[in-house]
Amino acid sequence: MISVAIDGPSGAGKSTLAKRLAKELGYIYVDTGAMFRAVGLFALRAGKNPKDAAAVAALLPQITLRLESIEGAQHIYLNGEDVSETIRREEVGMAASGVATIPAVRAFLLESQRAMAKSQNVLMDGRDIGTVVLPDATVKIFLTASPEARAERRLKELCQKGQPAAYETVLADIRRRDDQDMHRAAAPLKQAPDAVLVDTSKLDFDESFALLKKTICDKIG
Ligand code: DC
Repeated sequence: MISVAIDGPSGAGKSTLAKRLAKELGYIYVDTGAMFRAVGLFALRAGKNPKDAAAVAALLPQITLRLESIEGAQHIYLNGEDVSETIRREEVGMAASGVATIPAVRAFLLESQRAMAKSQNVLMDGRDIGTVVLPDATVKIFLTASPEARAERRLKELCQKGQPAAYETVLADIRRRDDQDMHRAAAPLKQAPDAVLVDTSKLDFDESFALLKKTICDKIG
């Protein structure tokens, strides 16, 4: 089986690029962030602090997640409910980053993430795919961009959704999330030694896509 691991900070364009690449390569796209977001959503709905390890760990037996690919798009079901849209909210992203610091949550998701790569060719995106989940991935990419470039892109997205925000606020949120994801003890965001670094700060979508595709194709031949 071929596995492509794409890790990097939030807002670097991972999911949009990964989705398109998976489609082009004919691989299954697995967005592991969605799994952490679904757990974060469950914790929020249960009225728990997403960083409270004991409280969140106690919720895990009540959670069943299912991923399904429908016409190339990944849908995620939390106890049977399609939460694919709901998990994209800002507060759910922050909650996801919180629950992702808890080792019990990471262990809960790890086996299913590994199982998906055993039976099919996958392109999996996240923070620890090349370092922890699939250390033997065929291709590893660390996709990043400067916090400023990511804030500008996020601002544009929010504007298009009719939710204008201040640049400084968006940049501060990005820095806070980076800090939390990079400095946690459990599986922090970092580049695997054998990952190829791709910096998209100065590239537009098509240029980033072409560079990633070339990087992957050079490796898998
Ligand atoms: O990629 P994303 O923004 O949807 O991820 C949401 C959060 O989940 C992110 O802040 C960190 C966490 N995450 C993680 O710790 N490990 C992963 N493999 C994927 C996401």
